[in-house]
Amino acid sequence: MYRTHTCGELRLADAGKEVTLAGWVQRLRDKGSLVWIDLRDRYGITQLLLDENSDPKLVEQARSFGREYVIQAKGTVIERESKNPKVPTGEIELRVKEFTLLNKSKTPPFTIEDVSDGGDDLRMKYRYLDIRRNPVRRNLELRHRMAMLVRNYLSNLNFLEIETPMLIKSTPEGARDFVVPSRMNPGEFYALPQSPQQYKQLLMVAGMDRYFQIVRCFRDEDLRADRQPEFTQIDCEMSFVEQEDVLNTFEGLAKHLFKEMKGLEFDKFPRMTWHDAMKYYGSDKPDIRFGMKFVELNDVVKGKGFGLFDNADLVVGINAEGCSEYTRKQLDALTEFVKRPQVGAGGMVYIKYNTDGTFKSSVDKFYTADDLKAIADKFGAKPGDLMLILCGEAMKTRVQLNALRLEMGNQLGLRNPDEYAPLWVIDFPLLEWDEETQRYYAMHHPFTAPKPEDEALLDDPTKWGDIRANAYDIVMNGVEVGGGSIRIHDRTLQNKMFHTLGFTDEKAQEQFGFLMGAFEYGAPPHAGLAFGFDRLCSLFGGADSIRDFIAFPKNNSGRDVMSGSPAPIAQEQLDELQIALNLK
Ligand code: AMO
Repeated sequence: MYRTHTCGELRLADAGKEVTLAGWVQRLRDKGSLVWIDLRDRYGITQLLLDENSDPKLVEQARSFGREYVIQAKGTVIERESKNPKVPTGEIELRVKEFTLLNKSKTPPFTIEDVSDGGDDLRMKYRYLDIRRNPVRRNLELRHRMAMLVRNYLSNLNFLEIETPMLIKSTPEGARDFVVPSRMNPGEFYALPQSPQQYKQLLMVAGMDRYFQIVRCFRDEDLRADRQPEFTQIDCEMSFVEQEDVLNTFEGLAKHLFKEMKGLEFDKFPRMTWHDAMKYYGSDKPDIRFGMKFVELNDVVKGKGFGLFDNADLVVGINAEGCSEYTRKQLDALTEFVKRPQVGAGGMVYIKYNTDGTFKSSVDKFYTADDLKAIADKFGAKPGDLMLILCGEAMKTRVQLNALRLEMGNQLGLRNPDEYAPLWVIDFPLLEWDEETQRYYAMHHPFTAPKPEDEALLDDPTKWGDIRANAYDIVMNGVEVGGGSIRIHDRTLQNKMFHTLGFTDEKAQEQFGFLMGAFEYGAPPHAGLAFGFDRLCSLFGGADSIRDFIAFPKNNSGRDVMSGSPAPIAQEQLDELQIALNLK
């Protein structure tokens, strides 16, 4: 037997037992007559002891062990003289009688401890060593626990986990596809699924009624902290449901996760229309852990001779409570922040409502104290507050102010990762205008149903931007953790939708014919949602980057620096696929 116990389980009650442990040498301390080894495995660390009574050969053998050597140690559990209350095994140690060296190790390129000296790149290159560290291991354990909770919860609600193909047909909507050439069909390509969307709808036509899948999805898009080219969804679909049923079902799942993982209970999650989210937060995924709602100021700032405001489509601001003491330097830094290209504002106006009731602003020239008071009243501001204002084209300005609001939230410590603020954003627009290609795209996907009361607007192209969809996102702490919609199950409406999106009948038939065909055989009303599982894990784990919760993630250029992918393939492979490269 390699081991009788793990390195995390021995306690004082085990004192006197003869045990065998196996694991990695985390650290060796040599005090001459006393040698200690911290032996680590997935479950914890147990201290091994060699003292003046130990066989000198054994001591010599211990001294030969380097960091990360894999060893087996047999011995007796004894009570420690100086206990360590910080570790669960801190009351005992193992007086070693016999060692077996199971494998040597090169010196690792970084320390394998909770706080490592390895930079991001190095740790990713040696991810298998990184995973030996507690924080990473814990993240993967959290992910596993979440997956088990999800499976059990949904299974208890009669959801079936059904796998769908990974090699599918490329569709032009959405993000870019990763494609896979077919050797047996030269010149033809599969795509890796961006999501199992069409297959889960087909499963509804097939009568499967309640489907889920914890499934890998692939999208060739620009990467960020919360985006990976391959990521995992908890993908779900249900038949014979209305929006209310879907929201309740998945709110139930989210609450179950909060309860089991965090011991937190929630009332009904708040809901906000997309329109209000944009108007009051400048974002379709507002972080409602804190206030600072937008206040629109057109009616109180215009007509006072300040050209910038007079000519602006929208003047809008936030009130940072208790910040009137911000210094010149801090205000300049905020102005620089909004002027960065990533935010793109022209500048920022501030109004300080001093604690003595006076005002100081960057627009004192144009506004009297009474004017400033009227603005402050509009904000509901009180002495001691600081108002920050942007102006310009309405939507752009809102998005810029969102960046400023989040920055202020960070600066003021209002975005506590241990606090959770879930929110449904509902009534998304059905269509989104794209300036570049001069056409409308489906904001969600082409199978999302319009709100029945807005359906008639599909007949009037000038109204397409106003059509609301039966689509919803679940947002937590400013992160979009999931989204879904009621699907179109009616062939005529679906055809209309394709036309709106600029598909000819032939093109629609070519791209989506199999789904459309299926819809002619009794498609039930159906709807669904997909959670971003990596995002959900990172949120529950209190980290910003989803990479920390993926065993082998890609870096920001989409590379796996450990295996070295993507990489060129051999000429023979290309020949076999009949592919000629045309690199520019
Ligand atoms: P959507 O495109 O909104 O919907 O994706 C669902 C959720 O998946 C997560 N997500 C990502 N996570 C990490 N990296 C990425 N690149 C990435 N892209 C998306 C987000 C998102 O909310 N088929 C529909 C769902 C449906 O209608 O049922 C879909 O895929 O958390």
